[in-house]
Amino acid sequence: MSTINVNENKIKAEIAKRRTFAIISHPDAGKTTLTEKLLLFGGAIRLAGTVKGRKSQRTATSDWMEIEKQRGISVTSSAMQFEYNGIKVNILDTPGHQDFSEDTYRTLTAADSAVMLIDAAKGVEEQTKKLFAVCRMRGIPIFTFINKLDRESRDPLDLLQELEDVLGIRSCPMNWPIGMGQDFKGIYNREKNEVEVYQHGHYHEKDEIEVVDGNQEALVRQLGEYYYDKVMEDIELLDVAGDPFDMERIQKGELTPVFFGSAINNFGVQTFLDRFLTLAPVPTPRKSDAGPVNPDFPEFSGYVFKIQANMNPAHRDRIAFLRICSGYFERGMAVQHVRTGKTIKLSQPQQFFAQDRQIIEDAYPGDIIGLYDPGIFQIGDTLCQGSPFTFDEMPYFAPERFAKVTAKDAMKYKQFHKGVDQLTEEGAIQIYHTYGTGIDELVLGVVGELQYEVFEHRLKAEYGVDILMQRLPYEYARWIDGSKEDLQKFISGTNVVVKDKKGRFVALFQNEFGLRWASEKYPDIRFVDSPTKL
Ligand code: G4P
Repeated sequence: MSTINVNENKIKAEIAKRRTFAIISHPDAGKTTLTEKLLLFGGAIRLAGTVKGRKSQRTATSDWMEIEKQRGISVTSSAMQFEYNGIKVNILDTPGHQDFSEDTYRTLTAADSAVMLIDAAKGVEEQTKKLFAVCRMRGIPIFTFINKLDRESRDPLDLLQELEDVLGIRSCPMNWPIGMGQDFKGIYNREKNEVEVYQHGHYHEKDEIEVVDGNQEALVRQLGEYYYDKVMEDIELLDVAGDPFDMERIQKGELTPVFFGSAINNFGVQTFLDRFLTLAPVPTPRKSDAGPVNPDFPEFSGYVFKIQANMNPAHRDRIAFLRICSGYFERGMAVQHVRTGKTIKLSQPQQFFAQDRQIIEDAYPGDIIGLYDPGIFQIGDTLCQGSPFTFDEMPYFAPERFAKVTAKDAMKYKQFHKGVDQLTEEGAIQIYHTYGTGIDELVLGVVGELQYEVFEHRLKAEYGVDILMQRLPYEYARWIDGSKEDLQKFISGTNVVVKDKKGRFVALFQNEFGLRWASEKYPDIRFVDSPTKL
C-alpha cells in the first residue's frame, strides 16, 4: 500500500528548499509587524498598507482567538507558509500576550531554528527569556533581530552584553546600526562593507533601499563625519573584541547572528531574510524510540504538536497540527496512528497561507499541516508508514497558575468530568486533585492566563457546563520524590500538596522563596519540575 510514488531525489530537493522556524519575542516587540513584512516579501499578502491601516490588518498573523471571536470564523494559522526566492518558508506562530501557554512551548519543538526578536529600547524581556530557554534546551540555532531602531534605543553594545549576561548566548552582529531614533542613519553591513541608508518617515518598498558602498568618501558624504567615525570605531571594536562568525557555533545555538532594523519601516527586514535563509538549517532529524529519524528517510512520518479547538461553537472541528518529519505526504494517504494502532486516512490536510487555509495535495519534511481532528489525536501522537515507532515525548512544562474548578450546577457533574477528562487527554490543561483536605477537589494548572479562558469556553461550548473557578496563589509546581517517611513528614507539614492524574505528589509554592525554603528544610526530598524527571 506504499504511496511512495515520488522519487527520493525529489524528496531530497524539496527538503533542501525548506526552512521552518518560530519567531520568539516578548509582546509588543513587533512580531506581528515582522511576520507581516516577511509574508509581504513572499507575496503571501498584498502590500500591508501604511502604518495607519495596520490594526485592521492584523489578520496577517495568528492572533487567532481574537479574530475568531470578532469574526466568528476560523482563521487558525499557527503555521504559515510562503515561498521566497525558491525557498519554502514555514513560520510557526508562538502566541504571546495573555495567550502564552504550553502550546507556545510545544510549538517550538516543531521549529528547526528560531528568530529572537528584541525591542531595541527594552532589551531582553521576560517572555523572551522563557522561550529562549526552550530553544536552548533543544539546541536549535537562534537568530536575533533587534527592532525599532527608528526610536530611541539602548546602546547596541549594551544589548549584546545583555544577550550574554541574561541569556548566556554570545553574539555576532551581521550588521550594525548607525545612530538611532531621530538620528538613525542606517545599517552597516559587515559582510558586504556597505551601508543601507535609512530614510525617515519612509516606508521602504522592496528593493528600493539606497546602498552606499564602504569607501570613506562616499560614507562621510552620506553619514557626516561624526557618524562615519562612530561606526568605524564600533566596527573596529567588534572586529577585534567581538566573536567571529562561526557557522558551527551558530548551528549548536552557542552563537547568535544579530541583525538590526525597523520592521515597521520595512528597513533591514529583507537583508535579514536573505541572510537568514542562507544560514538557517534545512529540516533536521527528530528523535524517536527507534533512533533519530532523518527527513530523507523515505517513509512518511510526523507528530502532532498542537491541537486547536475552534472557538466558535458553530464549527466544532478541531485541527491537529502535524510537523512532517520524513518522507512524502500525499492527500488521502493511509498512515498508522501509532498510539492506537489504527490506520487512518488523511483526507483533508490543510496548509496555512497568511489569512487563508487551503486543502493541500502534498507536503514534505519541515512542513506543518493541519489535520481535521474528530477527536482522535493527542498532543505528541506519531503518524507514520512502515514499521511503527514513536517520536520522543513532548517536553513537559510545569504549570504556573492554578485554580480550583467545579461545575456551577452540581447536576452537571458528569458532563463536567467528561469535559475535564477529555481536555486533559488532549494535553490542553493539567488537572490535579487536592490532597489531605478531606474533600476531593479539582485543581486546574495552566501555563498562561488564556488557557483558563479556553477551558471555560470549551466546557460551556462543548459540554454545556458552566464552571466556577477559584484562583489559587501558587506559581510553582514541583513533583516530589523521597522515602515514604520523608514524604509523609513533608505532606503533614504546612506544605500544600496535590496529586496528579497518575497519583504522584506535587507540591505547590507561592514563590521561589517558598520553594527554596522547602528544599533546604527537606534536603532528602527531590523537587523536580516535570514528572518525567522523577
Ligand atoms: P507584537 O506582535 O510583538 O506584540 O508586536 P506588534 O507587531 O503588534 O508591534 C507592537 C507595536 O510596535 C505596534 O505599535 C507596532 O506598530 C510597533 N512597531 C513594530 N515595529 C516597529 C518599528 O520598527 N518601529 C517602531 N517605531 N514601532 C514598531 P502599536 O501602536 O501598538 O500598534 P499600531 O497602531 O501601530 O498597529
